[in-house]
Amino acid sequence: KHITTVDWVVKEASYTRLCSTKKILTVNGLFPGPAIYMRRGDRLKVNVRNAGEYNVTIHWHGVKQPRNPWSDGPNYVTQCPIKPGANFTYEIVLSNEEGTLWWHAHSDWSRATVHGPLIVLPKLGKGFPFAKPHKAVPIVLGRCENGGEPNKSDAFTINGQPGDLYNCSKEGTFKMVVDYGKTYLLRIINSIMNEEMFFMVANHNLTVVGTDGAYIKPITTSYIMITPGQTMDVLITANQSPSHYYMASRASAELVYDNTTTTAILQYSGNYTAPSTPSFPNLPNFTDTDSVTNFTRRLKALATKDYPVDVPQSVDTRLYITISVNTLPCANNSCDGPNGTRLSASLNNISFVEPSIDVLQAYYRSIQHVYESDFPNEPPYYFNFTGDNLANTLLTPEQGTKVKVLDYNSTVEIVFQGTNVLNGAENHPMHLHGHSFYLVGYGFGNFNNETDPKSYNLVDPPEVNTIGVPTKGWAAIRFRADNPGVWFMHCHLERHASWGMDTVLIVKNGRTLSTSMRRPPRQLNPC
Ligand code: C2O
Ligand code: CU
Repeated sequence: KHITTVDWVVKEASYTRLCSTKKILTVNGLFPGPAIYMRRGDRLKVNVRNAGEYNVTIHWHGVKQPRNPWSDGPNYVTQCPIKPGANFTYEIVLSNEEGTLWWHAHSDWSRATVHGPLIVLPKLGKGFPFAKPHKAVPIVLGRCENGGEPNKSDAFTINGQPGDLYNCSKEGTFKMVVDYGKTYLLRIINSIMNEEMFFMVANHNLTVVGTDGAYIKPITTSYIMITPGQTMDVLITANQSPSHYYMASRASAELVYDNTTTTAILQYSGNYTAPSTPSFPNLPNFTDTDSVTNFTRRLKALATKDYPVDVPQSVDTRLYITISVNTLPCANNSCDGPNGTRLSASLNNISFVEPSIDVLQAYYRSIQHVYESDFPNEPPYYFNFTGDNLANTLLTPEQGTKVKVLDYNSTVEIVFQGTNVLNGAENHPMHLHGHSFYLVGYGFGNFNNETDPKSYNLVDPPEVNTIGVPTKGWAAIRFRADNPGVWFMHCHLERHASWGMDTVLIVKNGRTLSTSMRRPPRQLNPC
């Protein structure tokens, strides 16, 4: 089968927003970056040349890449970085993904501006499991920033634009023109580094029909909540009086900086007098955790003959993983934690350390001392994880490059347990590479091994690749480890991922060639 190749250049470009111009890292000079359109089951090669000043890698978020971890992208997990002046050819291998996914840089903080949509259309001649929309429009939620911790003056963006609530931004505001009576598909992506977002369109209902590249039973709602890394396919019908309406998005938690709401305009075609102030949606409040969790609880897989659910009914390997922000002793001058410590983060009290050569290569070539295979199946000790006023010293993490090895085709359950260590106020969007997983359970407090599994949804749980685990609660997922390779698993809040809230799952080869990892591509980047 013929495989197309596209060429990308990672380079700096000047970018003017909020009245000032700065240099940002881009693909082909674009922010957000170029959209990729593929069809279910397709392959595509993307040759990335690094014309910037820093190391970079690219990840295809939500693409399972069967047997092909070589192209997955996370820095020092499946490859060494593409150095300035070098290039690498990725091969995007789709399997059963369909809907909206995205791609982003996966090295340090570069994904702040290096990201874009990756849209998977149905197979040629096949339709959507809903009436064909008149048009589909990507909506990329982002922020104008250079990476690193946020500046007070940063603003969130919709398709690269902060919107007309801010100075100098009116002209560029993203406008979506609609015809009365028609239905549109919004392909919404939260590419923001650290914030969960609410999204609404004034006076219009939204119907969510998919998330993370899989269809769901339609949910009609006035707002959506979308966590970093997540994507949503949302239908909207232009059935209100022809006019201009605000689309708006803002963070679902209190922020330390201003400019927390970004806007775009839904603009009906035709002749009418445009309002001087379009109606504005009534977004849920900051810290409205009920709105967050109520929305997540409504997600159910489509579960039809054409879009079946294959959730493991029994489990071979069970992991119980605590998610914490904690502190480490601090020697240099970035001691940002309490009492002269520095902030860190961990899974089961292990704070992930990036190795100096990638885990995939070390595994494939049996290179010793790069990682250890003893990531623990449960936390080192038990306490009231979600209680108030937990001592900050409760968990000082151990640092290491620890991975969990899984047998090919084994069934896996992971219960992610949020903890209130350091009085964490944030949900953690846990993301797994190489697989999507079924969200079978979701609740508050400490997971109860006796009672909580009884409430699992093993019939039509949503199939996703990212789940917002509540700080004071838990989420249970199941999947089949049917993709041999080396797969990163981490919090999609960049701050937490960079502090060590990560681990790696290695899925062993099956017995046959077709159930084993592919051979490495001829050209690998040296470390
Ligand atoms: Cu979208 Cu490992 O990330
Ligand atoms: Cu987190």
